[in-house]
Amino acid sequence: MPGRAPRVLSGMRPTGKLHLGHYHGVLRNWLKLQSEYECFFFVADWHALTTHYESPQVIGESVWDMVIDWLAAGVDPASATIFIQSRVPEHAELHVLLSMFTPLSWLERVPSYKDQQEQLRDKDLATYGFLGYPLLQSADILAYRASRVPVGEDQVAHVELTREVARRFNHLYGREPDYEQLAEAAIKKLGKKNGKLYRDLRQAYLEQGDKEALATARAMLDRQKNMTLGDRERLFGYLEGGGRIILPEPEALLTPTAKMPGLDGRKMSKSYDNTISLREEPAVVEHKLRTMPTDPARVRRTDPGTPEKCPVWAFHQVYSNDEVHQWVQKGCRSAGIGCIECKQPVIEAVLAELKPIQERAAEFARDTITVKNIVSDGCQRAREAAGETLAEVRQAMGLGYAL
Ligand code: TRP
Ligand code: SF4
Repeated sequence: MPGRAPRVLSGMRPTGKLHLGHYHGVLRNWLKLQSEYECFFFVADWHALTTHYESPQVIGESVWDMVIDWLAAGVDPASATIFIQSRVPEHAELHVLLSMFTPLSWLERVPSYKDQQEQLRDKDLATYGFLGYPLLQSADILAYRASRVPVGEDQVAHVELTREVARRFNHLYGREPDYEQLAEAAIKKLGKKNGKLYRDLRQAYLEQGDKEALATARAMLDRQKNMTLGDRERLFGYLEGGGRIILPEPEALLTPTAKMPGLDGRKMSKSYDNTISLREEPAVVEHKLRTMPTDPARVRRTDPGTPEKCPVWAFHQVYSNDEVHQWVQKGCRSAGIGCIECKQPVIEAVLAELKPIQERAAEFARDTITVKNIVSDGCQRAREAAGETLAEVRQAMGLGYAL
């Protein structure tokens, strides 16, 4: 929106303890964003219920641990608003309102719908909530009129859906009466054939998000010679919905895919049991790293190895400087160093990274009142921000009763 600092919104599901994968993949990015934008970070507890509705205890238990981990990692309540989704019912209200005009086919074609159902076969995900979850995410984003949404690769389709939903909303409810009349008059001036083409292409773009139709329509307008400047601007604007933009389209800020590998070289993930959690005991961290697998070719100390085939090397990429990299490359390939020796700098770096995080986490864990106050303030700020949007949305959808 013009005249406002760009807003960032992001959420995380409370499904367990945070680990180094979350820290390097998401949280460090949040820390950077909170210094540049007005940020809203929330605990996506309703989202967690869409897949964990049979085991809600995990959610309740993870919420506070997760907030403590955020704070310990450096998310700063003085610059970012931290809140819990279910405590801001405006998300649910907007979800219901958006659901009125969102075609079912838009939800069915979101890739995660089928993918996740296949991956999580042990759960029955043929539910209304699961189908609607990307739209709930759209409501999360649009309630704050966020312009940037940091997400991983797997979530880009959800931001894309959000853009289409916002566009359709503005198209249906953001038009100003005389704007439309002027645009319609200008379409008539295009002549019968081009007028019909314009209408068809516009509809294909606004209702199906067909970008080729948009490009074709623009090219057709460019070819029109006898058009006034006013009509030209009108027809270009009208093509994209025109009128008032009540819900601006957000942009995905793609977080580079996590460079943080797990202990076995696969992506760090709880389901692979290859994590180091942020609050893991130092002795356990050390043990996990000491026993993590290395290049299988190095059976004996005297066998040379290839760092690129070793998960420890992936850790060095995250934690070590050039000098150490060279030492590893040379030592590994010539069998000049042993694997335990090679792991030592990684062990030290991980422990050093975790130390201040764990100290802060321990403080917050002791001081639950402070944590609750931070979240309760955040929920209130979030409700105010979302409330402003909802007032406009209700009005636009014919629900602006004064009681
Ligand atoms: N769907 C996201 C996930 O599963 C979490 C999420 C919910 C989110 N709402 C959001 C992320 C809004 C960004 C913006 O990880
Ligand atoms: Fe891996 Fe280092 Fe051992 Fe080489 S020396 S196999 S890089 S742990």
